[in-house]
Amino acid sequence: MLEQLEVILREALDALSSVNNPDSLRAWDSKFLGKKGLVTEMVRSVGQMPKEERAAFGKRANEVKVALTDAFAEREALVAARRLAQDLEEGEIDVTLPGRPTEAGGLHPSTQTLRQFYDIWGDMGFQVYRSREVEDDDTNFTLLNFPPHHPARDMQDTFYTTTPNVILRTHTSPGQIHAMRNLGNGGTQPIRVILPGMVYRFEQITARSEVQFHQVEGLAVGRNITMTDLKGTIAAFARRVYGENARVRFRASYFPFTEPSMEVDVECFLCGGKGCRVCKYSGWIEIAGSGMVHPTVLQNGGYDPAEWSGFAFGMGPERMTMNKHGINDIRYFWGNDLRFLEQF
Ligand code: PHE
Repeated sequence: MLEQLEVILREALDALSSVNNPDSLRAWDSKFLGKKGLVTEMVRSVGQMPKEERAAFGKRANEVKVALTDAFAEREALVAARRLAQDLEEGEIDVTLPGRPTEAGGLHPSTQTLRQFYDIWGDMGFQVYRSREVEDDDTNFTLLNFPPHHPARDMQDTFYTTTPNVILRTHTSPGQIHAMRNLGNGGTQPIRVILPGMVYRFEQITARSEVQFHQVEGLAVGRNITMTDLKGTIAAFARRVYGENARVRFRASYFPFTEPSMEVDVECFLCGGKGCRVCKYSGWIEIAGSGMVHPTVLQNGGYDPAEWSGFAFGMGPERMTMNKHGINDIRYFWGNDLRFLEQF
């Protein structure tokens, strides 16, 4: 029996030296060390041996088992190492291959424009004040000095809700009332805010008009604010957006909530004022409505118009983005067509 054990040991070691892959490793293991393996059976046969031989045989059988288990582990490591070396050699793993490209998202063109505006107005001390998109009729119109049946109300095509007096804001100007009331501390504190956000108009959707778009309202209230402040501030903004040499002009206009009211044009940045399609051959592009806050509106915001004054403006970031990039259809903005969005 002992002799048979030595034969198995030699045979096993011999066989192991030619084992070269995971499959033959597994086969070797089950042939010699597995549940029905040769070594295992030898160990098991101890029971049938004459008593006096058992101790010596058992000891040797165990030694053989340990020796083969160690040899197996060593061979297994060697096979794995050779395989890795071979894989690297044959280039199965090519670490120089470029990775798969991941698609990077981008910011919506309106978001880009809005963020640029936040930066510029922030530098001039205007804090962002977010006002509600669902408004009441009073704040959207009446408190802004639109009388009940004033024709100016018809300028706004309004989305009404099923709740009386609850509407979607048609402009960001009602935010002026909220900002004055919430930040003005009862008409005792100066304020300087921009009010960005979505506005809604019940209109036919065309290349030139959408039912929703952004506005960025600006409002400054203080003790000595004059029209010169308004003009200088807007001109400074235009220089930041359109370049150091940008020129602006102010045209008399009308809004119920400002007096006097002015429309703001910037000299066409595409043709330099010579006249082109974008500026409709006028040399100027409109960028904002503006004016001095109407005394009634100051009062509705909690300020005494005898002591306080202010200016306000409202701009349309989509319109400005369209002009900048020569986009000829406002419907692209909410169409979610990646072919459009990916260009920005
Ligand atoms: N609310 C005006 C509009 O929607 C713009 C505006 C804002 C004009 C502030 C003057 C002052 O057209």
